[in-house]
Amino acid sequence: MYLTEEEREGLRTAGRFNASLMDFLRPHVVEGNSTDKLDKLALTYTRDHGHIPACLNYKGYPKTICTSVNEVVCHGIPNSTPLKSGDIVNVDITTIVNGWYGDQSETFLIGEVSPAARRLVQTTFDSLFIGIRALRPGCMVTDIGRAIQTFAAAAGYSVVREYQGHGIGRDFHQEPGIPHFPQPASNRDLLRPGTCFTIEPMLNVGTWETRLDKKDKWTVRTRDGALSAQFEHTILMLETGPEILTLTQDGPREGHRF
Ligand code: MF3
Ligand code: CO
Ligand code: CO
Repeated sequence: MYLTEEEREGLRTAGRFNASLMDFLRPHVVEGNSTDKLDKLALTYTRDHGHIPACLNYKGYPKTICTSVNEVVCHGIPNSTPLKSGDIVNVDITTIVNGWYGDQSETFLIGEVSPAARRLVQTTFDSLFIGIRALRPGCMVTDIGRAIQTFAAAAGYSVVREYQGHGIGRDFHQEPGIPHFPQPASNRDLLRPGTCFTIEPMLNVGTWETRLDKKDKWTVRTRDGALSAQFEHTILMLETGPEILTLTQDGPREGHRF
């Protein structure tokens, strides 16, 4: 149940590759490019390196990555619409490297975005690190959600409740669930050294409630149509504290200003 040193190395390698894919996509996440183009680039890069796209065909999901634009909360399906100035787009990528999963996402600002969108993205990015800095070896899963919920509410945002982070390893989604609000049911889940999981807060400008697209059964939107943003890292709890496995070379680091 708790990961050995060898297993931890497997996850480190997977996280590092997944992060390299994010850096590969980064220069292409710009005005005029479609999310389909990003999807094709991600699939080619993954296969060229001999690895496996985790989302493609996962429970019937049709693409390699998720691209969630503006009011889309998560699981947006790449399409042929060009990204336009003012959009915010979350790019969520998951790959399998030698049987181990790496999972992460970032929200990108396209061209000139409104101050309101920039502030939401900034607060969501900061909330991920607020969650990470709440981690101690053996802490409660609830410590994460309490920290994130308090921080988001102080900024005037709601936290999505219907989608959560998750344990990760040789499976995509495993125990424990990682709610981004203080869910009492998670009090008994402890993050002991050798546990690997994601933190992936979704913050909304308006209501936390969501609505699933009736036609594609994947796209999750805010119920009120207001903006939503998300960031995600895969994290390994060590005896000494958390290790972030999906840090990029070129992306925003803790403390970054958008
Ligand atoms: N990457 C998402 C997560 O963070 C899951 C996407 S599943 C998909 O858990 F099927 F929609 F791709
Ligand atoms: Co995830
Ligand atoms: Co993800």
